[in-house]
Amino acid sequence: MSSRVAGALLGAVLTLGVGAGEVRGQEEEEAPPTTQDGVYTAEQAERGRQIYMRVCSQCHALDWYTGEIVRAWNGAPLYGLFEVISTSMPQDNPGSLRRRQYVDMIAYILELNGMPAGESELSTGTSRLRQILFQWSDRP
Ligand code: HEC
Repeated sequence: MSSRVAGALLGAVLTLGVGAGEVRGQEEEEAPPTTQDGVYTAEQAERGRQIYMRVCSQCHALDWYTGEIVRAWNGAPLYGLFEVISTSMPQDNPGSLRRRQYVDMIAYILELNGMPAGESELSTGTSRLRQILFQWSDRP
C-alpha cells in the first residue's frame, strides 16, 4: 500500500471518529441537564455548608441564598454563578477559596433551594458547569 493511500484511509478513520463525537454532542444539546437532575451529592452540600458557616455567613444570611439575587440565575448555565462567586466572593477576599470549595458551596446553594441531590458530585470542570442549567421547579 502506498503511503498516500494509507494516509487517506487513516484520514477516513479519523473523520468517522470525529463524526461519532459530534452526534453525541448534539444529543446532549437537545436535553441539557438541569439542577433538578441530581447533579451534586448530599456529602458535597454538607462540605459547602461548612464553608458557608466559616466564610459566607458573616455577610449573607441563610435565607439570602434562596432570595431574588440568587434566583435571578434561573435558566442560566451553572457556570455563571460559579464564575461570579469564585471571582468576587468572599467580598473581603475574592478568589481566596479553592475551586473545589466554590463548587461545594454551589452544591449547598442547590440544596438550600430544594434541588435534589444525586449519586455523583458536581464537577469542577468548566465544560460540565457550562452544560448544567440552574433551574427552579415551577413553584409560585
Ligand atoms: C464581606 C462580606 C461578604 C462575604 C464574606 C461574602 N459575600 Fe457574597 N456578597 C456580598 C455583597 C455585599 C454582595 C452584593 C449583593 C448584596 O448586597 O446582597 C454579595 C453578592 C453575592 C452573590 C450574588 C452575585 C451576583 O451578582 O449574582 C453571591 C452568589 C454571593 N455573594 C455568594 C457568596 C458566597 C458563596 C460567599 C462565601 C464564599 C460570600 N458570598 C461571602 C458580601 C459578602
